[in-house]
Amino acid sequence: MAPVDHGHAIPLLQKIQDTYGYLPREVLLELSAETGIPAAHLFGLATFYAQFHLEEHGRHTVRVCRGTACHVRGRQIIQDAIDEELGIGPGETTEDRRYSLETVACVGTCFLAPVVMVDHDYFGKVDPNKVGEIMGGYE
Ligand code: FES
Repeated sequence: MAPVDHGHAIPLLQKIQDTYGYLPREVLLELSAETGIPAAHLFGLATFYAQFHLEEHGRHTVRVCRGTACHVRGRQIIQDAIDEELGIGPGETTEDRRYSLETVACVGTCFLAPVVMVDHDYFGKVDPNKVGEIMGGYE
């Protein structure tokens, strides 16, 4: 069950993550001291919601859909092309901290399978030959 956010902490956590790319522990402790929101509550939210990262994270998050429709339409070929392009696998971050790579369950746009997201941008019917072009579009 999702933690209840009585203190409206989620928008504050989102701002911190936008600034640092993740949620540094010391910044969460400072936020707790300044707002009175218990640190345990902040860490509870940060670990519950997949959008938050407690470890250093890339400036951009690449999410490859591993849902059934995408799987059937060649997600693994796309995953392999992205792994090769970035030189990392799912759960890893490039050395220059430009990209972190994740796999996600169905993102709800099965008609576009196979689907890749970069931050909030959706790329549908992804062709493995276009992966370099997509990854080149983000600094
Ligand atoms: S399975 Fe990939 S978007 Fe639904």
